Amino acid sequence: MSSASSHPTAGPDRRTVVAAVGAAGLAAALTACGSGDDSAGTGSSGTESAATGAASDGGGTALARTADIPEGGGRIFKDQGVVVTQPTAGTYKAFSAECTHQGCAVGSVAHGMIVCPCHGSEFSVTDGSVKKGPAMKGLAPARITVSGDDIRLA
Ligand code: FES
Repeated sequence: MSSASSHPTAGPDRRTVVAAVGAAGLAAALTACGSGDDSAGTGSSGTESAATGAASDGGGTALARTADIPEGGGRIFKDQGVVVTQPTAGTYKAFSAECTHQGCAVGSVAHGMIVCPCHGSEFSVTDGSVKKGPAMKGLAPARITVSGDDIRLA
């Protein structure tokens, strides 16, 4: 008698390890910024500068004191663009400080003349007339008012 023992064979336990090699595809994520024609707007922050006006109390802009103007001479106020002169004691005159030749600002007052540094024109402190060229025209008169010691631009 033979006994046959049959071993039930279990199914082959095969573990298949699948090593998934993930090939990291180099995604060419290079976003080529080629023809960029959309220009970003430049936000210019405008600063509003509040202009602080010159203190004017009662008509005209305070310019100088009479004592500031030498007798027989004058003084140039560059910011205001005027020359104030005192041809004779107690008489004050004012002229535009812009030379009539080519528009330079006159630079000095000396020996009774208002002198332009650009080309040497000279103007009379008395009436602004040309005393020496190349300017052909006298300085334009400017309006001032004198009250007490104060000289004001009218
Ligand atoms: Fe004054 Fe020429 S601009 S002399």
